[in-house]
Amino acid sequence: MEVVTNLSALNEALARFEAAGNSTAFVPTMGNLHAGHISLVERGLALADTVVVSIFVNPMQFGPSEDLDAYPRTLQADIDKLQAAGAALLFAPSPDCIYPDGVAAHTQVIVPGLTDVLCGASRPGHFDGVSSVVCKLLNMVAPDIAIFGEKDLQQLLVIRKMVTDLCLPVRIEGVGIARDTDGLALSSRNGYLSPAEREVAPGLQHSLQMCAEHIRNGAQNFAALCQDAKSSLSAAGFTPDYFEIRRSNDLQLARPDDTSIAIFAAAKLGKTRLIDNLQLTL
Ligand code: PAF
Repeated sequence: MEVVTNLSALNEALARFEAAGNSTAFVPTMGNLHAGHISLVERGLALADTVVVSIFVNPMQFGPSEDLDAYPRTLQADIDKLQAAGAALLFAPSPDCIYPDGVAAHTQVIVPGLTDVLCGASRPGHFDGVSSVVCKLLNMVAPDIAIFGEKDLQQLLVIRKMVTDLCLPVRIEGVGIARDTDGLALSSRNGYLSPAEREVAPGLQHSLQMCAEHIRNGAQNFAALCQDAKSSLSAAGFTPDYFEIRRSNDLQLARPDDTSIAIFAAAKLGKTRLIDNLQLTL
């Protein structure tokens, strides 16, 4: 696997893939790779000849009091995992390469509508940072397909809307959530959990499953279901941020006659913020 850190080396490698007639799948990441990221690379290999991965801890998507400096950076271990998975190229740019004049001076791509609820309400500006950097990375790598995990379902919907609205010539592919054996969704932030918090953490997924079961059994009062789930999470030691049932296409609050819905949860355990979701077709 080749590793490039600047635009001219990236362009040179991409030109070689193109000359060989290879299609490309792109997996943008912030590094600290786990089995969930590797499943995205594997999907890429199933869909295209060549998989390009980026590792860039994007300062624009972190709020002032968030974990940008503490975010785990594990480049050599990531390179080893990508190599073993069969990725052809890693693009690991510096902040200067992406934001030569600084983050504040950079053009932003803002996706309206989907970004002011759920994580967008708790993390103002977060999705503006995500859509801006993903738009730029898509323009730099110009892949046929770009692949994102469904753990960040809101992010996936934001990116799909951006690609549709801006007619970006790329197909967006979502991949289901990779979980630990006890059900905890894999996340780079799981490494922040203490052993005691790690024991409690699968409770987030269990709360989603219980809520889904109530809905499948005919429960119609979604607001009450969400309130109950938040109370149970609090009792288990979480500090819930949101627990909401929304339509999975436009993120409007779901009603009992909607057929395609998703249950979204975010909660803190100690200092660690965890998110998860469950998609339901009724
Ligand atoms: O999901 C992530 O890791 C990031 O939000 C992404 C898509 C790589 C943009 O920085």
